[in-house]
Amino acid sequence: MSVAVRSVIPIVPLAAAASTAASPQALRERKRQAPKGRRVQPAALDDLQALFGDADLSARPDLLIEHLHVLNDRFGQLGTPHLAALAQRMRLSQTEVYEVASFYHHFDIVREGPDGAVPAAPALTVRVCDGLSCEMAGAQDLLARLPQMLGAAVRVIPAPCVGRCEQAPVAVVHQRPVAGASLASVQALARTALGAASPVGPDGEPGGPPSRAALARIDDIPEAIDLDAYRAGGGYALLAQCLRCERSAESVIQTMEHAGLRGLGGAGFPAGRKWRIVRGQSGPRHMAVNIDEGEPGTFKDRWILERDPHRFLEGMLIAAWAVGIDAIWIYLRDEYHGIRALLERELERLRAAPPLPVGTGAGAGSGAAWTLPTIELRRGAGAYICGEESAMIESIEGKRGLPRLRPPYVAEVGLFGRPTLEHNVETLHWVRELLEQGAEAFATQGRHGRKGLRRFSVSGRVREPGMKLAPAGITLRELVEEHCGGLPEGHELYAFLPGGASGGIFPAALADVPLDFDTLQPHGGFIGSAAVVVLTRSATHWDRAVDAARNVMRFFEDESCGQCTPCRVGTAKAGALMTQPVWDAPLLADLSQVMRDASICGLGQAAPNAFDLVLRYFPDEVGASPAPATQPVEPADPDGRNSAPSPAPARV
Ligand SMILES: Cc1cc2nc3c(=O)[nH]c(=O)nc-3n(C[C@H](O)[C@H](O)[C@H](O)COP(=O)(O)O)c2cc1C
Ligand code: SF4
Ligand code: FES
Repeated sequence: MSVAVRSVIPIVPLAAAASTAASPQALRERKRQAPKGRRVQPAALDDLQALFGDADLSARPDLLIEHLHVLNDRFGQLGTPHLAALAQRMRLSQTEVYEVASFYHHFDIVREGPDGAVPAAPALTVRVCDGLSCEMAGAQDLLARLPQMLGAAVRVIPAPCVGRCEQAPVAVVHQRPVAGASLASVQALARTALGAASPVGPDGEPGGPPSRAALARIDDIPEAIDLDAYRAGGGYALLAQCLRCERSAESVIQTMEHAGLRGLGGAGFPAGRKWRIVRGQSGPRHMAVNIDEGEPGTFKDRWILERDPHRFLEGMLIAAWAVGIDAIWIYLRDEYHGIRALLERELERLRAAPPLPVGTGAGAGSGAAWTLPTIELRRGAGAYICGEESAMIESIEGKRGLPRLRPPYVAEVGLFGRPTLEHNVETLHWVRELLEQGAEAFATQGRHGRKGLRRFSVSGRVREPGMKLAPAGITLRELVEEHCGGLPEGHELYAFLPGGASGGIFPAALADVPLDFDTLQPHGGFIGSAAVVVLTRSATHWDRAVDAARNVMRFFEDESCGQCTPCRVGTAKAGALMTQPVWDAPLLADLSQVMRDASICGLGQAAPNAFDLVLRYFPDEVGASPAPATQPVEPADPDGRNSAPSPAPARV
């Protein structure tokens, strides 16, 4: 496996350096040889020794983020002495380790004081989701009152959507989510957590934060179908058929193409076509599975994994077999601690008992005996942009999640420079059903002329929020009435977001437009990951589109990776303009155009949807005159959150 080229620094043992005679010449020489940056503290090196033993950490620079997690978990923060020590152990520059660590929200970097000591980490961190659905459910009140209730030892901070919007408001105590969070429920769990925190670590030093075992237990996911249950229900029989050559890779790819399944991470690129493109590239080929699920309002991937992880894993392995993939990386958002434990366990079971005995079966087209591809589970670290496919690849390689300029596309040059098949979990979860039922069965479902089924993550003001499996093309009104128990008593539909933060905000007047890829573009937005947030009005409350738009623009400003000016400056500028009671519509229109035209990735291209559609559909809320009905609103780049399929591999 080839890995990205890194800057490698020479390592000078401190003890040896200290004992050298200090002639001016020797001093100059030593300065030249010493690693740049801060001196590495022996105590910090000892800490790393205790955690990593004698392992050669320099052999896998791609594991930098994993190692940062180990340190962050153990010490509750990343002290700069530990970063310097890690740089030395990994033979990376201190700058590189620092810039990667500081890119991700979940790493808390703390500098040592003048005395060389690093201030202690907070005893406990409570994150309160301030994403749109949670804000509508009272998150700001929790954020205002919890700090005083929980005391100075507990750090209370806002967090972007944690992927549980149907349970809003949500708080996360250390790593344990609290659904429908109240002051009392958060306080109760915080007390338990503080009790679970070990006062003394194994080395006699002060202990770290509460352990994952104490606060993110696998039994939090009681409904999950494990390997035995999945097999008992016929699971992995389809993969075994493929491996025994009872189905050909060509027939499998054709079925995927005919079913018309489109990528469900948000971009909507046809899955079968992507398989064919990647299979057409020279090997070795890699695969990356996207479980970053950071789009505010989206929780369908979590829902699937908490219940039926092996259906997704079987789809993944069939795709890998059909496309000729040798190694797979699964990138899981850090917020899904319970799922990580579940996947670790189930992957271990799968490795121990693969679908066919090792050495039997055949790789697609090769005739050689099939072996289970290498599967690595990687942990995100709190950066929405890492859901963008090329940023995710950078992150898996151990770097900052900066989206790549394309071409080349990841299907051609992806992970570690190899052609890469990247898919969302739900796309892979459909594979077994499509192949067992046939392309026709899937394509004949759908409504209002659309084909297939879709999983909608519905939150906001409906009676029964949750994951709803519904025909593609269902309208918002039908979705709410037929699948969500309708609106709460006395509420009137006011507005809705069909595609999370990215897809725009639509008025109730558009509640009869079919929801699917391509159907919302003429109205200025898109469905993306089908994260539906419903806004209403009643005698006692009054949702406003402008509040929703401000919420999502704050999110984009925080999550912009900062690589390109139109997005970095544009999201900040738009956020500031949007705080005004009367919006400067011409200036915002200019800003929108620049962001759409010149941003590198879908984040910057889609962010203007928030204010463009408020100006277009809710001008009275922001003191603007109504926009002309014909005002064109360019959809975002399909490589990001748009849905238009592309005929060329360019979009893969
Ligand atoms: C800013 C941004 C964030 C994204 N976040 C996700 C995500 O969290 N999960 C996901 O599957 N796709 C996400 N995508 C889409 C991916 O770039 C990519 O299209 C997808 O993983 C491909 O898989 P699919 O074809 O199965 O949909 C995001 C795109 C953009 C521009
Ligand atoms: S558009 Fe935004 S998120 Fe995307 S590369 Fe540019 S700065 Fe980064
Ligand atoms: S969990 Fe809070 S908005 Fe999604």
